[in-house]
Amino acid sequence: MSKAIRAARLSAAMVAFVAGAAIAATPAQSAYQLARDRGCMVCHEVESSPPGTVEVPPSAPSFEDIARRYRADPSAVDRLAAIVEQGSGPRARDRHWAGKTSFTQMFPNELEVTNEEAREIVGWILTLAPSAATPSKGRQQSSPR
Ligand code: HEC
Repeated sequence: MSKAIRAARLSAAMVAFVAGAAIAATPAQSAYQLARDRGCMVCHEVESSPPGTVEVPPSAPSFEDIARRYRADPSAVDRLAAIVEQGSGPRARDRHWAGKTSFTQMFPNELEVTNEEAREIVGWILTLAPSAATPSKGRQQSSPR
């Protein structure tokens, strides 16, 4: 086989690989886009800030922290999608992040999202942490320099 043919085959394989990766990434990207379009990202960040780098609590828990908290909970999609639609309520006992956010509640989002959309976004959020089978202390443990 000539060098040129080999190079052509290799680049065809690379194109196929890159295209495959793009297709695999599509659901997460579109769920992120949906979250952005529905206004979730006004309050939420995807990633948590490393400890020691922020002086005030974030407006809302990061999606990464939410994923860490609920990764072992098989009913999380149902419960969290309902909370997204109905809001969290202002009383501390109705909240799950009291003291960790500067906003004191999540308002209902039922005009912004359908139940299906809430489930799609929450399903994606829950993929943002390593699974319960491989617990990782992650950035919570790393000490800032
Ligand atoms: C006005 C700001 C705001 C907006 C907009 C917002 N959230 Fe929230 N969200 C919050 C706050 C604050 C909390 C923490 C509530 C608590 O303490 O339980 C929260 C909590 C959550 C939780 C975790 C609930 C729990 O009980 O642990 C999820 C999941 C969530 N939000 C998803 C979403 C999604 C999806 C959207 C878009 C449809 C959205 N949020 C829009 C402020 C917001």
